[in-house]
Amino acid sequence: QPPLNHIDPSKLKITRTASPKEMPSLETLKFGRNFTDHMLTVEWSLENGWEAPEIKPYGPLQLAPSAMVFHYAQCLFEGLKAYRNKAGKITLFRPELNMARMNRSAERIALPTFDGDALLECMKQLIKLEKNWIPQLDGYSLYIRPVLIGTQESIGISPPNRAMLCVILSPVGPYYPDGFKPVALHGTTEFIRAAPGGTGAYKIGANYAQGLHPQKWAAQLGYVQNLWLSGPEHYLTEVGTMNLFVAFRQPDGTIELVTPPLDGMILPGVTRDSVLSLARSHASGSISIDGLQSKLVVNERAVTMPEVREAVQAGRLIEMFGSGTAAIVSPIDKIGYMGQDIIIPVESDGMGPVSRPLWKELVGRQTGVIPSDWSYVVED
Ligand code: COI
Repeated sequence: QPPLNHIDPSKLKITRTASPKEMPSLETLKFGRNFTDHMLTVEWSLENGWEAPEIKPYGPLQLAPSAMVFHYAQCLFEGLKAYRNKAGKITLFRPELNMARMNRSAERIALPTFDGDALLECMKQLIKLEKNWIPQLDGYSLYIRPVLIGTQESIGISPPNRAMLCVILSPVGPYYPDGFKPVALHGTTEFIRAAPGGTGAYKIGANYAQGLHPQKWAAQLGYVQNLWLSGPEHYLTEVGTMNLFVAFRQPDGTIELVTPPLDGMILPGVTRDSVLSLARSHASGSISIDGLQSKLVVNERAVTMPEVREAVQAGRLIEMFGSGTAAIVSPIDKIGYMGQDIIIPVESDGMGPVSRPLWKELVGRQTGVIPSDWSYVVED
């Protein structure tokens, strides 16, 4: 008897589309609006576990209106990207972390777990089939969106006995409509994203649904996304679709790069982890930060909005930026907080002395220009 989470890539069935589409020109791409010709699906039932995976033409799914996903938000997802370098080599970036997080999200909302390596193997086949959809331009990639939903026909609430995993692909450029420019955030004190013991650390659809009304409100006030604050102290947590970093100059001249700790209310981002790891190797002196002569220390610690405001007023705030798969590294130039705009320094290229080298190091590894064991090869 195979283990319950078993997916068998050797059973993968491929049905090709009869009407392939043209890849749109890159300038016209809006983030997440274009999809490739094929998708991967794997069905699950409590009795039989995971069925044979299938690659088939991208198109509507047939689901009953009583499917639990429509009623109780039994939905989780991941986001990762495929890159194709100038020589045609196709790579993913640390995809095993996405598989592990997806399984943690599945457990949290009682959806079935699965063998992440086996799903990756099937995703590899899908990406190879769609390789002409991977843009070869800097800043562009093929966004990979796995989603897992509860499909049992039931409006009684219980863990589902039917589920479906689906992977779709979307050629993308910059996440924000203004391109690779700094973003303005609304420091939200009226709504919360997560609470202790809740689902903030999991990548489930419901976390994002509840953020849409505050995001609409932030947009009306002229900001791009919410900066979620927590508690009466207004602790920084994360941004709409990004983790958050702040660089302070400490009184002794040291630069301190801070990100809020993973306290169960923050998404453990793959890009967050990569930025931290790269910053720590800068701090150890093994990579040098250009234009930055100071010592760098890296801390995962709590930081409040009043601390940020004071540091800006004292000229000690060097920069702030968000990190995420979709957003990569996005500098922040303004935060609306308690009715006032706090202006965050950015340099003329829109970045800062800490984010610039980190961004270069990160993107180099993501695209395979800098060889690293974070690269997962799809095709050489
Ligand atoms: C990503 O950065 O890949 C995400 O999943 C954020 C998404 C809501 C666009």
